[in-house]
Amino acid sequence: MYEEYFGMSGTPFSRSVPVEALYESQAMQEIIGRLFYVADKQLFAVVTADPGCGKSTLIRRFSEQLPQKDYILLYLSDSKLTPRWFYKGLLDQLGVEARFYRGDSKRILQQQIEIIRGVQKKKVVCVLDEAHLLEKETLEEFRFLLNYRFDSMSPLALVLVGQTELWDDRLKLQRYAAIRQRVDVYCTLPHLDRAETERYIRSHLDNAGGVQDLFTDKAVDTIHSSSTGIPRMINRICDKSLIYAYQKQKRLVDDHMIEYVLEHELLTAK
Ligand SMILES: Nc1ncnc2c1ncn2[C@@H]1O[C@H](COP(=O)(O)OP(=O)(O)O)[C@@H](O)[C@H]1O
Ligand SMILES: [Mg+2]
Repeated sequence: MYEEYFGMSGTPFSRSVPVEALYESQAMQEIIGRLFYVADKQLFAVVTADPGCGKSTLIRRFSEQLPQKDYILLYLSDSKLTPRWFYKGLLDQLGVEARFYRGDSKRILQQQIEIIRGVQKKKVVCVLDEAHLLEKETLEEFRFLLNYRFDSMSPLALVLVGQTELWDDRLKLQRYAAIRQRVDVYCTLPHLDRAETERYIRSHLDNAGGVQDLFTDKAVDTIHSSSTGIPRMINRICDKSLIYAYQKQKRLVDDHMIEYVLEHELLTAK
């Protein structure tokens, strides 16, 4: 609604940022680098962050960068995944029909993985997003996938992605020790700091085209402190404040306008 007023050709702070136009923080770059290593060496990784910090976005970027000629990436994001649906979800992505019984599906999946490895000469990378919501039983299945070969080679790379509590409140518990002990790489995606918040905002504005420096320095300070550097919150605050600036016919967003928006438009957001 405000795009024309600000001379933009696209909408900033939207969810549908093309993968090549994403803002890449240093932490994100580092984690993606580590995930390449995990994919290559077929390891088990856990990635956590607070909600809205960009975990799924990071995986989107990672999957785009993973060479398709060498890898097959299987991605599941379903908090209600029972073990049976877990196997069905993976087999569906391989274009293979799942069986009624979990054990049968498991065997078929293992065969498929062997074919991909042996015949197609590709490596399988399996990513389970929203993993903090999964039942222990499903997490266990995930771990069994790593184990079915008797030689020392892991048959695939596994990446569990979830909110901070996946590690802090679950995998650290004794009853998850069997899973935790298998984790080769653990990384967490932090909130953006003040400088990154500014670059993040700028990158969204750049992508929308035609505008620079719409937010004053103090406005960015306020956006950073109120969002605590969480990208999803930054998006909401910036979007609402651009609407507000447009309604007020202002060309520049200052800290007072951000304060107003925080108080009146985003009551539920904090
Ligand atoms: N690096 C980034 N560049 C651009 N937008 C991002 C980036 N990281 C996160 N976002 C935006 O922030 C929002 C939340 O990101 P998301 O990946 O869904 O977080 P999480 O999975 O950690 O809850 C999304 O709308 C996304 O577009
Ligand atoms: Mg997510």
